[in-house]
Order: sequence, then structure tokens, then C-alpha cells
Amino acid sequence: MSPSNDTATLRLGDQSIDLPLRTGSEGERALDIRALRRATGLITYDPGLVNTGACESSITFTDGERGILRFRGYDVEDLVDHCEFIEVAYLLVHGWLPNAAQKASFSRLLNQNALIHEDMIHFFSHYPERAHPMAVLSAMVVSLSSFYPELGENRQEDIDLTVTRLLSKLRTVAAFSYKKSLGEPIVYPRHDMKYCQNFLNMMFSSPVVRDPVNPVLVDALNKLLILHADHEQNCSSSVVRAVGSADANLYASISAGICALWGPLHGGANQHVIEMLQQIQADGGHVDRAIARAKDRNDPYRLMGFGHRIYKSYDPRARVAKRICRDVTAALDRHDPLLDIAMELEAAALADPYFQERNLYPNVDFYTGLTYRQMGIPTDMLTVMFAIGRLPGWIAQWLELRSEDEFRIMRPRQIYVGPPQRTVKPLGERS
Ligand code: ACO
Repeated sequence: MSPSNDTATLRLGDQSIDLPLRTGSEGERALDIRALRRATGLITYDPGLVNTGACESSITFTDGERGILRFRGYDVEDLVDHCEFIEVAYLLVHGWLPNAAQKASFSRLLNQNALIHEDMIHFFSHYPERAHPMAVLSAMVVSLSSFYPELGENRQEDIDLTVTRLLSKLRTVAAFSYKKSLGEPIVYPRHDMKYCQNFLNMMFSSPVVRDPVNPVLVDALNKLLILHADHEQNCSSSVVRAVGSADANLYASISAGICALWGPLHGGANQHVIEMLQQIQADGGHVDRAIARAKDRNDPYRLMGFGHRIYKSYDPRARVAKRICRDVTAALDRHDPLLDIAMELEAAALADPYFQERNLYPNVDFYTGLTYRQMGIPTDMLTVMFAIGRLPGWIAQWLELRSEDEFRIMRPRQIYVGPPQRTVKPLGERS
């Protein structure tokens, strides 16, 4: 983003202040208010940070009105059609798509770092049987920091090693936690398999089942992970940046991001989409009742997988996810009644003035969960899948934050509306 010659003038009674405008590489404009408080004593008030640009970033571009999502300038659809997930992870972290040699070397590094310390495997045994895998994931990620402390003083090669470790080990932790939840022996990662194939093998093979991983599933997983790989300053990425701005290490920052993603209004929505569709199915498949509830102001019910802070047209990721979902269903020759309900629900919502007036369209979570379901991923693992996909984006955001000239701790202000100063009464005199 570069400063332009334009300014906006803010008038406050007799006082006026010129605030510069800044313009991004895709033409989006921002009012630079850094001088505001110093010059006027005022702060800005923007709950939900709906109008606030918290940083400059060269990682991801979104245009919610036109339904555009680009990573480092590449349309997400282009990346889904022509790249594997690890190429996109490399792109986000390094800034360019790897050539063949770089990809091979990255792939080798990921394999070399796939195991987790054997002592960490005991941790899994001590979680309750019904522990949510997102709780396990965030705890295991922050625990990695005690087994693999960052080396040196944030030298580039140390950061590269930590980044690769995390990308590789998150997938191993996720698969191990699934195996432990089933009470099955864990399956170790293998050097002769690539990233997505390796993950699916750890998830679905066992000492007694050694079927080769279906290439249809590998291809679908690559695509779904790419769809999730970054989404600029969303809730979890902002959390990663906020924690990272306190100079916390990468593992701690990512662990916090995982917790934020877990929320049902964010990545946790993919699990809730499936549960909502199951509920509609159990109630006889009446999508009209779900629509009516979602429109009722006195009912907190919302259509999960619908609506987005940024997208006021069709989420481009949802469009691709819907295509992948159909392809996987056809390739596996399966029929999922939940997919029928989802499509009926989508059609009914898109035809309804309530959703039209509010620009509510399916978001990325609407069809990704359904696709993972076809692939055999259980419902409570869906947000974990999102986290595996989002990891390179979080890492890229964290690295970018640390490279900023203005790297400072993130510390918003507030408008205090509590009681004015008062004094403590002795215990016996308090009402
Ligand atoms: N169902 C019914 N009504 C909705 C929905 C929905 N899914 N989403 C928004 N609305 C309505 C709101 O009630 C509000 O109506 P009003 O103007 O009459 O009060 C209006 O649309 C605007 O909604 P906000 O909550 O102000 O929109 P915001 O940008 O703050 O929230 C969010 C976006 C959280 C995604 C919201 O649309 C939602 O809760 N969706 C369901 C959960 C979901 O799918 N989350 C995943 C998002 S994608 C991601 O994080 C990866």
C-alpha cells in the first residue's frame, strides 16, 4: 500500500486535520488515521473491526463484492486446478510458486520432519475418549514448542525449520488423534508418500488394513486444503498476528489461531453445517422450517455455512467446493442424502428475499464438510481439516508481521463505559 497525494479533512469544531489516504495494489483505499489520536485526542470506534485495516499485507487479496480470492496474485481456482497443496503452502510462506527442484526439496523436508517426538504420543492416551480433536490439536501444537524449541535468535534457517516442522507435524498430530479416538494403533508417516497421501494413509490404514490410498481422495484433499490455505485478516489469522505481536513463538501463536478457528461462527461452522443438515434430515427433511427459523429474529438459529463478513456475493471457495463435492460423489459412486438436503436448502435460501436482501450466500464451510464426509472424515474432525489447510496462511501472516518495519505489539483501545471512580466500603456496609 502506498501513500497517495490525496487527503481527507476531518473537521472537529474549529479544528481540522488532514488525514492521508493510502491505496493498495488492487485499488482499495484506506484512511490513514495514525496521527488521529496525537492530533485530536480521539480514537476510532469500530466494533468487530468491520472498517479497520489492521495491517498492510502482500499475501492474499479478496474482493467480496466481485467474489475474488487470490493468493500472492493467483486466483484460488487457478491454484486448485494446477497445484498441489504443498506448492500453495510454499507460495504463501515464501511468496513464489516453487520450481520442480524447490518442490522436491520442500517435499523431502516435510517428510524428514513428519514424526513427532515419541514421548508426545503418550499425551494422546490421557485425553478423555470424547475430547474434541480441536482441543487436542491446539494443546499438542503448543506442546511442540517444548519438544522443538525454536533455535537461535530467530535466524532465517531456524524459522524455516520451525515452519517446515509445524506444517509436517500438524498433519501427523491430527491423524494420531483420530486413531487414538478410535482406540486403534497409530500409523506412522511414510517417506515414500506425499503430503496428502501420507495423511490419508495415517488416517485410514492400520496393521490389518493396508489398502492403497484412493487417488480420488488424494486429489480432493489437495484441492480442499488449497481452498482453506489463507483468507487474509479473518478471525483466526488476526489472533495469530495478535499473539505473534507479543513476540510469542510460532507454535504458541498457531495454537491460539486453532482455538479461534474452532468457534462455530468461524471454521467450526463446517462441523455445525453437517449437524444442521442431519437435524433437518431427522426432522423429515423440511428445509422450509430451517429457513423460517433462520429468519426468525427471536430464534438464535442461523443457517450454518451461510453468510460472510467479506463476501456479499457467492464465496468463490464455496463454488469450487461444490464442484469438488460433486466430483468426489460421482467418482466414489456414492449417494449422500445430506448433499440433496444441502442443495435444496441452498436453492431455497437463494430464492428467499431475507437472504437476498442481506447478501447471504453459501460460504466455504457449506460444501467442504459434505465432501470430507464422502471421503470418510468424521464430523468432529472437519475443523481439524480446516486447520491443516489454513496453517500455511497463518504461518505466512505471522512471518509477514515479524518482517514489518512497524512491528509493534497489538493493543487496541476502548471507550470505557463502566462506573466512575468510587471507594471500597467495608464488607459489612455493602448492599
Ligand atoms: N443465517 C441467517 N441470518 C444470517 C446469517 C445466517 N447464516 N448470517 C447473517 N445473517 C443475518 C443477520 O441476522 C443479520 O441480519 P439483520 O441485519 O436483520 O440483523 C445480517 O444477516 C448480517 O449478519 P451479521 O451477523 O451482522 O454479519 P457478520 O458479518 O457479523 O457475520 C458470519 C458473518 C459470522 C459469518 C454470519 O454470517 C454467520 O453467523 N454465519 C453462520 C456461521 C458460518 O457459516 N460461519 C462461517 C463463516 S466462513 C469462515 O469463517 C471460514
